[in-house]
Amino acid sequence: MAKHDSPVPLYLQIKDYIRLNIQHGVFAVNERIPSERQLADQFSVNRLTVSKALNELAQEGVVYSQVGKGTYVAPAKIDQALQSLTSFTQDMIGRGKRAASRVLHAAIEPANTEAAKALMILPGAEVVVLHRVRMADDQPVALERSHVISALCPGILDNHDFSRESLYAVLKAEYHLHMTYAHQTIEARKAGEAERDALEAESGLPILFITRVTYDLNDHPVEYVRSSYRGDRYKFYTILRTAE
Ligand code: GLP
Repeated sequence: MAKHDSPVPLYLQIKDYIRLNIQHGVFAVNERIPSERQLADQFSVNRLTVSKALNELAQEGVVYSQVGKGTYVAPAKIDQALQSLTSFTQDMIGRGKRAASRVLHAAIEPANTEAAKALMILPGAEVVVLHRVRMADDQPVALERSHVISALCPGILDNHDFSRESLYAVLKAEYHLHMTYAHQTIEARKAGEAERDALEAESGLPILFITRVTYDLNDHPVEYVRSSYRGDRYKFYTILRTAE
């Protein structure tokens, strides 16, 4: 029960209570938690206090609400290590999830200035552009626009179905392109309209926006990607060591 004389604000006490119940499995994934009214009665607080706690938990991706139905426990975030270079498909397989994609666009196009610079090719040189919504167990979790130097993988779009195949697996098996390392930046922002549509998300969704250039064994750039990962479904972790 809420401690009204505690220095910890009431809405934070309610957040902690809900989190703990989720951690201990009292409130299970995709199950409804007690209503705003029930929580307000239970903690002897007004509904605005409960609503503040629930809104923050929703923003953090811990719960989600369904209009007219209530508040539900969200599935745990996908916890992705940043120290190894993996493909989306490998990441999903490693978690026991089914990887798939919805291909929004697949074409050979002249590289724009940005892609050309990243790939160290002349602007206008051909790149394979692959724009996909990435799905984990049929749920959209990321939106990725990849640019791959076309001369390195002739015919790739004619012979493959990237709604179910892995780009990295095809590049390796058929074109002997071994992705070895990548330079990557991560920025936070709110989802734009196109991202919200593709990711079937509501307004205010936080996005982890990633830009990556991936290199092969010979230090040649192969792929330039811009990805929008759902901030409510992903968290990244890394191991840090003291500098020698
Ligand atoms: C990750 C990377 C992308 C890469 C993709 C390949 O999502 N962020 O840069 O293009 O993996 O995934 P797949 O081989 O499953 O198509």
